[in-house]
Amino acid sequence: MSITEKLQTLLWWAKRPKLYPQTIHILTRKILHKFRAQEDTKELMESWCAERALDTQTALTQLTGITSFTSVDRLFADQFEHAEKIAKACPVEMGGPGDLDLLYWCAEYLKASKVIETGVAYGWSSLAILFSLKNRKDSRLVSTDMPYPNKNNDSYVGCVVPEELRLNWNIIRYADRQALPKALNSLGQIDMCHYDSDKSYYGRMWAYPILWNALKPGGFFMSDDIGDNVAFRDFASAIKANPIVVSKDEKYIGIIVKQ
Ligand SMILES: C[S@@+](CC[C@H](N)C(=O)[O-])C[C@H]1O[C@@H](n2cnc3c(N)ncnc32)[C@H](O)[C@@H]1O
Repeated sequence: MSITEKLQTLLWWAKRPKLYPQTIHILTRKILHKFRAQEDTKELMESWCAERALDTQTALTQLTGITSFTSVDRLFADQFEHAEKIAKACPVEMGGPGDLDLLYWCAEYLKASKVIETGVAYGWSSLAILFSLKNRKDSRLVSTDMPYPNKNNDSYVGCVVPEELRLNWNIIRYADRQALPKALNSLGQIDMCHYDSDKSYYGRMWAYPILWNALKPGGFFMSDDIGDNVAFRDFASAIKANPIVVSKDEKYIGIIVKQ
């Protein structure tokens, strides 16, 4: 990173006092180098995932018994097409979607009414979950998102979610460390969670147990991009779980069912 980029990043953080706790946290993390060895474990984790990986349909059958499904982009064709236009017109590039069919059909199977997700970006995963929640009375998705440093994308976060689906939705625009306790306070026990924010080993190992403890028995714990490092493997092993791994668009999603 050049000096100018470093200064720009510093300025970005300085202009956002509500994110100062996260600034301090990141600096401390850099100084302590905690979990440094585990951060660099992508290769190892990708082969762990590849050995277990299922496609979306097989995973859905194992999880829910659903033997065939219609994809979200066909079920909600008009809204989806509109969302794609909005994403295309968005002047900033943000993080890509998780497995939207998996999210939607898992929420449908669970008849989920309380869901937490971390990481929104355009809002594709939020959209898939909200398509399911919209028909259930008093259902709520609480999403956490801290915008990308230096992208100035704050006002575009969640842009693909249409107005009519926002009734069941709250975004807490803070880093997970501040946002997750607020999300849990507002929802209590949850039916499902989707982790897709801080992809570091450190970030995952902090948030995974918090989300897991909030999950109801029978609830689904889902995490995107688990091939980044060994956090998901270590977490699954710590809670003695037998996870399901889904391969989608050259990445891996991990799911654990709470017994
Ligand atoms: C991969 S994108 C999320 C994609 C979204 N789940 C989907 O499927 O469409 C990751 C998002 O998490 C946000 N993020 C990164 N670190 C975060 C943190 N520590 N706390 C909260 N949000 C964070 C990023 O700014 C970005 O908006």
